[in-house]
Amino acid sequence: MTSPPYDLVVRGGTVATAAGRFVADVGVRGERVAALGDLGAPPAGAKVVDARGMIVVPGGIDAHTHLDMPFGGSTTADDFATGSEAALFGGTTTIIDFATPRRGEPLRKGLEAWRRKAEGRCSVDYGFHMVMTGAADKALREMDQLVREGVTTFKLFMAYPDRLMADDRTILRALLRTKENGGLVCMHAENGWAVETLVREALARGDTQPSFHPLTRPVAVEAEATARACMLAEVAGVPIYIMHLTSARALEEVRRARERGVAVLAETCPQYLYLHADRYDGPGAEAAKFVLSPPLRPKGDDEALWRGLREGSLQVVSTDHCSFFLKPRPSRPCKEPGRRDFSRIPNGAPGIETRMLLMWDAVQKGRLSLERFVEVTATGPARLFGLFPRKGHLSPGADADIVVIDPRKPHTITAAQHHMSVDYNPYEGKTIHGSIREVFLRGRPMVRHERFLGRPGEGRFLRRAPI
Ligand code: URP
Ligand code: ZN
Repeated sequence: MTSPPYDLVVRGGTVATAAGRFVADVGVRGERVAALGDLGAPPAGAKVVDARGMIVVPGGIDAHTHLDMPFGGSTTADDFATGSEAALFGGTTTIIDFATPRRGEPLRKGLEAWRRKAEGRCSVDYGFHMVMTGAADKALREMDQLVREGVTTFKLFMAYPDRLMADDRTILRALLRTKENGGLVCMHAENGWAVETLVREALARGDTQPSFHPLTRPVAVEAEATARACMLAEVAGVPIYIMHLTSARALEEVRRARERGVAVLAETCPQYLYLHADRYDGPGAEAAKFVLSPPLRPKGDDEALWRGLREGSLQVVSTDHCSFFLKPRPSRPCKEPGRRDFSRIPNGAPGIETRMLLMWDAVQKGRLSLERFVEVTATGPARLFGLFPRKGHLSPGADADIVVIDPRKPHTITAAQHHMSVDYNPYEGKTIHGSIREVFLRGRPMVRHERFLGRPGEGRFLRRAPI
């Protein structure tokens, strides 16, 4: 007896790709999409999901998460278990996190440590960007080897002089090496020395409230570093990817570099599209929730970012998910205790669960087309980070990472019901015009109607192709 051609049929939904939309059935065999179109009567034994009236999109790819990230002798609130489950509830099926060796440690040691953190705990498929703080000959040789092993992207920081900052020589050497090995440098673009100076001066003046966080990381600090990063990529003659771009001025620097022929790619994050600097005006504890870097910007910058997403000058929306508890917890870094000294507040915010919904809301409100939604949440990151066409696109042969969105059922974001392991949500009370109905990872049901159906830890490490 021959087995049926499909194990799963997602029937009659509006299937969206980055290039268009059409009503179709999606037939899944094993872990892969087998066919799209009018597949007729489903074979006996196949599981059938009625997606009529629903939107069917590829599983989201979040290319910027910090799970189980060390901080001050402890770690972020979400580890790979809680963070990846929350990701699935929000329609994300692949993440790229950051393997971070200690300063001076071989890159491979950092990678192995992060693989151990994720292995058996992560419920979505995952890859790693490799954090580099130096570019000695040995580190450059390790880069070559890591690219061959599927770790193809290297994160460098122009910020955080005390911990992670790379100087221009390091950055240029890493960029030049990507010309040889097919890797890609991803940049945190803020001028670390400028920030450090402004922070010291603010604290010396007694300006210690969280409202001084954005004032010590002004737009010029981001624009200068973005321009410098672009110019170093121009000197090296290679592409560069700017992470968490927040402002019209930084985007202008990206555009100018592109006009000169530099292959600059850039992402933004929902917090810079939906939240503004007025959040720092609240009382200390409330403002502490929004201490993240780069900081939220005044109204106006968001409009430039939305335009950038529509027009294609921004290619990706990822989260920079980096969750810390607000209220004090024993032996955990928390935000509230830092309200009297903003420089002690752990930087970052939760978002791994809300990215797809927030971007979907933009589709409902006419700010983003359905096709651009798919591009910036899935297809774009898959292409840029060496996962396409296996991930980020629904077509025969691709992994059956499928998200069914109910465009009519509203979803209200609230910490009381979210799945991230953190005691607040930056978007508390926001109602999204739509909800995530079903999520499949490689054909396996992971979430249905707000219930987790997956086996925790079944995510796989992804070897990514050179860029
Ligand atoms: O505030 C943030 N974004 N924390 C995470 C680390 C980083 O700078 O990306
Ligand atoms: Zn980050």
